[in-house]
Amino acid sequence: MKKSFILTIFLLFCLFLGDVVSRAPDRRKVDRKNIDDRIVGGYDITIQDVPYQVLLYLQKGQMFEQCGGSIISETYVLTAAHCVRDAITIYVIAGTTQADSGGSEYNTDQYTEHPDYNSATSDYDVALINIPGGMTLDGTNTKTIALADASSTIAPGTNLLITGWGLTTENGSTSDTLLAVQVPTMSNDECRKAYNTLTPRQFCAGVPEGGKDSCQGDSGGPAVATDSGVQVGIVSFGEGCARPGYPGVYIEVAKVRSWIETNAGV
Ligand SMILES: *[C@@H]1O[C@H](CO)[C@@H](O)[C@H](O)[C@H]1NC(C)=O
Repeated sequence: MKKSFILTIFLLFCLFLGDVVSRAPDRRKVDRKNIDDRIVGGYDITIQDVPYQVLLYLQKGQMFEQCGGSIISETYVLTAAHCVRDAITIYVIAGTTQADSGGSEYNTDQYTEHPDYNSATSDYDVALINIPGGMTLDGTNTKTIALADASSTIAPGTNLLITGWGLTTENGSTSDTLLAVQVPTMSNDECRKAYNTLTPRQFCAGVPEGGKDSCQGDSGGPAVATDSGVQVGIVSFGEGCARPGYPGVYIEVAKVRSWIETNAGV
């Protein structure tokens, strides 16, 4: 199940208000019950700790999906291809810990999916969002993240920091406040026991007993190696969330690094 989350509540409100196209979704109207719960095994974090993190609302027809992304330059956000696919307008919210207030909003209809994205296997689940007018990066609440080099590899057991406003339990609700979780990577051989279609562009992270994971709404967000502070992965998918034996699956940034450089100039 892809880690995007269809915010049908938006649809209802937008239909009633009748101004779907004319403005950004009203963030206060998102269904956010159970906001005191934790992103599957995570903890509160502030945007100053992860100023590269952005919240995305993707308008698809009259529906909105929620995803995450990372700021890689003044004009580009890195995310997952399944997030942007069929989007009419993308709302990028940067520089805030709270999903429903603060920060800056940018909207754009310019994005590029990786040409080899395969929706069946989620291979090459990576995309770039272009904000032609640029974002204001203040260095405190908004800042670029360094990306893993094309030649780099991820040793099994590497500790990752994953952040977002996604569901706090499988089939639960999104979080109003930014949450973080730390999980170790594992080898692809180990991960194939759970996902036999795993490709060389993908890697897994999680704990065997489950309980800690990214979830729907966190998709497209960054997985950063805690020792180096470099973004090594992009949240892609998982079987449920935080289930024992089913780690989260990420796109390996190093394997798509040259495509990013060609298309974003970063
Ligand atoms: C979440 O919903 C799916 C589909 O209805 C179901 O198969 C799954 O068991 C649910 N998970 C939990 C933890 O309730």
